Amino acid sequence: MDFTVLKMIHLTTAAVSYTLFVVRGIWMINGSPRLSERWARIVPHVNDTLLLAAAIWMTMLIHQYPGTHAWLTAKLAALLVYIGLGMVALRHGKTRRTRIAAWVAAQAVFLYIIAVALARNPLPGLAS
Ligand code: HEM
Repeated sequence: MDFTVLKMIHLTTAAVSYTLFVVRGIWMINGSPRLSERWARIVPHVNDTLLLAAAIWMTMLIHQYPGTHAWLTAKLAALLVYIGLGMVALRHGKTRRTRIAAWVAAQAVFLYIIAVALARNPLPGLAS
């Protein structure tokens, strides 16, 4: 597949991922039953799988990989942290306070991933 198309898929699914995460976090804070609706549990997983698939495909096209290129290692590691914090925020956090803290931290990690992507640097704005 063409790199431009993959990048468009990657960017679109990244935006959808963030939007769904914020919306589900608001439902979590309000104690809304919508959080456990079937689509709200399935759609984010499908979307995030597409995001990662496009990412992996692009890495193969540009011949840069996590483990060999620091910015991609940082992105992948941060993605795992984002997923972990997301699980605490939306499901496993024991108290409301813990879940909200994880929700806010996950968003900070998401912004870090975008900064790394734009700078192609694991320490965006700090080191070259
Ligand atoms: C939540 C997770 C992610 C977000 C929000 C995200 C965001 C972005 C953004 C905003 C860009 C565009 C950068 C630019 O145009 O300068 C980008 C490009 C890219 N991302 Fe991601 N990304 C994520 C996860 C990943 C992962 C896990 C990988 C690979 C392991 C990856 C690989 C790439 C590649 C290869 C590009 C293309 C770079 C280029 O244009 O040469 N991304 N990403």
